[in-house]
Amino acid sequence: MTFQFFAPRGTDGALLRVPQSFRRSVKWLPQIGDIFPDFTIETTLGPLNFRNWAEGSWVYLFSHPAAHTPVCTTEVGSIAMHWPDFEGLGAKVLGFTSSSVDEQLEWHGDIQRLYGVPVCFPTANDLGGAMAKFLGMRHEKEHKSWPIRKSFVLDPEMKIRAIFEYPIYIGRSTAETLRVIKALQLVNQTGAATPADWTEFDPIIIDIGERELEVVRKFGAVSRQLLPYLRLVRGDKRHEIPS
Ligand code: BEZ
Repeated sequence: MTFQFFAPRGTDGALLRVPQSFRRSVKWLPQIGDIFPDFTIETTLGPLNFRNWAEGSWVYLFSHPAAHTPVCTTEVGSIAMHWPDFEGLGAKVLGFTSSSVDEQLEWHGDIQRLYGVPVCFPTANDLGGAMAKFLGMRHEKEHKSWPIRKSFVLDPEMKIRAIFEYPIYIGRSTAETLRVIKALQLVNQTGAATPADWTEFDPIIIDIGERELEVVRKFGAVSRQLLPYLRLVRGDKRHEIPS
């Protein structure tokens, strides 16, 4: 069941539906754990109803300031280059900016010529920046009119699992985005946590209370307790646990 409580509108003028649990006395700002709201928007691949398109997949949704700008070109080019990695993780990608669909399609042509790969994910025309405002992508001290580089990772139930915010002049790392999606999938599959600087196959952090027999069954390896509150198990044979 959904409720409207401050009547935000999408680019088509239609009311955006916000789940009841988001009711607050202040304007809603997306947080980790919230269910992402539904909306319909024009994109470079045609009109897109977010829920219909996204539900059941992991999603990387990102805003950027504008088409035909240098840092944004490298970000979209980098995602296009890594497209098979997103597909391999079952992740869909949606870009957000207020440039028109025609401007973005022309720009995607430049990106394809530069990077040698097509931009095969949709990028949306956030007309008038309505969605950017709604989703907290406008930081007016950083730029008066352009959205910042804000990213959301959503799980297949459309729950927000990670949020990154980057300033206008710093391009995001696609490798880091992929790393976070992999880590979240690992957490879902095993209940483990990932340590600082974790990359795929590195040791992972497991619950102190989990029985060793269960650990061996789950991970095929024995665990190592480094501190009373820090217990690791290898994620894969390639990396040893530090002693
Ligand atoms: C860029 O993507 O390079 C950019 C975007 C907006 C303002 C300045 C730079």
